[in-house]
Amino acid sequence: MKPIPYGRQDIRPEDLEAVGASLQSDYLTQGPKIAEFESAFAAYIGSPYAVAVANGTAALHLSVLALGLNPGDFVVTSPITFAASGNCALYAGAQVLFAETDVHGSIRPEAVQALFDQYGSKIKGIIPVDFAGRPADLVALKKIAKTYGAWILEDACHAPGGQRRGAQGFRCGDCSLADAAIFSFHPVKHIACGEGGMITTSNPEVYQRLLVLRTHGITRDQQRFTNPASLADSSLADTEPYPMWYMEMQELGYNYRLTDMQAALGLSQLSRAEENLNRRKEIARYYHAALSGIGDLRLPHADSPTETEDHAWHLYVVRTKRRKALYDYLREHQIFAQVHYFPLHLMPHYRTSFGYGPGLCPEAELFYSECLSIPMYPSLSEEQLRYVVDTIKGFFTQHQENS
Ligand SMILES: Cc1ncc(COP(=O)(O)O)c(C=O)c1O
Repeated sequence: MKPIPYGRQDIRPEDLEAVGASLQSDYLTQGPKIAEFESAFAAYIGSPYAVAVANGTAALHLSVLALGLNPGDFVVTSPITFAASGNCALYAGAQVLFAETDVHGSIRPEAVQALFDQYGSKIKGIIPVDFAGRPADLVALKKIAKTYGAWILEDACHAPGGQRRGAQGFRCGDCSLADAAIFSFHPVKHIACGEGGMITTSNPEVYQRLLVLRTHGITRDQQRFTNPASLADSSLADTEPYPMWYMEMQELGYNYRLTDMQAALGLSQLSRAEENLNRRKEIARYYHAALSGIGDLRLPHADSPTETEDHAWHLYVVRTKRRKALYDYLREHQIFAQVHYFPLHLMPHYRTSFGYGPGLCPEAELFYSECLSIPMYPSLSEEQLRYVVDTIKGFFTQHQENS
């Protein structure tokens, strides 16, 4: 059996063709594929605007700037997430508070409320994470954010296609409740661009600001120029149009652009988003049926008509007190499970910067001590799935015999 990773990109001949065509076109970067990808992605997610950027971390960084985060401000995020969800606030000179998580590894609205009770409107924003693909409780978080005039930046990296159904429903990243949302196109995510990211928003001002910040703070929009036309060229009167070459850097921005080649790959991948999401759901159903009732293994909540959340199944996270032993056993059998995530507040940088330590978020720390992400990606074959299940069962049988 070939090694089985926990996640893997799905590259097909049509993807190669799309990238090949882009390489042979006139544009390697800043070409037409970017706008095409943005509008197709916005349509898929259901958001009014989308801005393609270099990666998910850049998406987070630009979003907090566009939403107005300043040095000395506070944001709240989850301890069970990738470092970038908190780091983006640090880039802006802000401070990060961590809210306790629930059984799904998502922040608890009551814990977020408790932080607002303590810090009040010093907290400018909440960065909830749709952990593993399960929508965060944006309805409850929105109520809190509204009371304090805070924004919500949804980290939807794990959740393209995830949704909450019903009267208070939303699609992850549609920005009906959040002010902006971000996605990553890292190879293990639903859509792979190599590196890549997207910001969605429903706010036209945030959208305009993102476009400028993505490209060095430079605008080519004549309507927005502030220098007199005579400074652009001394032969011009200030009432005349600016010359075509002229552009203005109006604030400090970044080069966080996605290339046209990556956008071509993203577009091709996006056309299979629904098919691949359905395959992820199928795999989740298979694991649920095959792994329930084994040892002390706890499975993630299954999608069901009684649950209002439709999981996007980026990760299939099981919990067991024997996490380390199971991880080692799977590795010995060529199954490369992974742990998502070591609590962010316990990372040395956060410990030394903020004085955080063990005990800050006990439920999140317990979650970390037990969690394991087993293989979940669309191209897993039936044979590989059976092998993963049989190996996990084999571990628990052996462990029972040895204990
Ligand atoms: C929850 C979450 N947020 C942010 C990121 C950052 O995305 P990227 O790796 O594209 O910078 C990731 C990706 O690993 C992630 O999983």
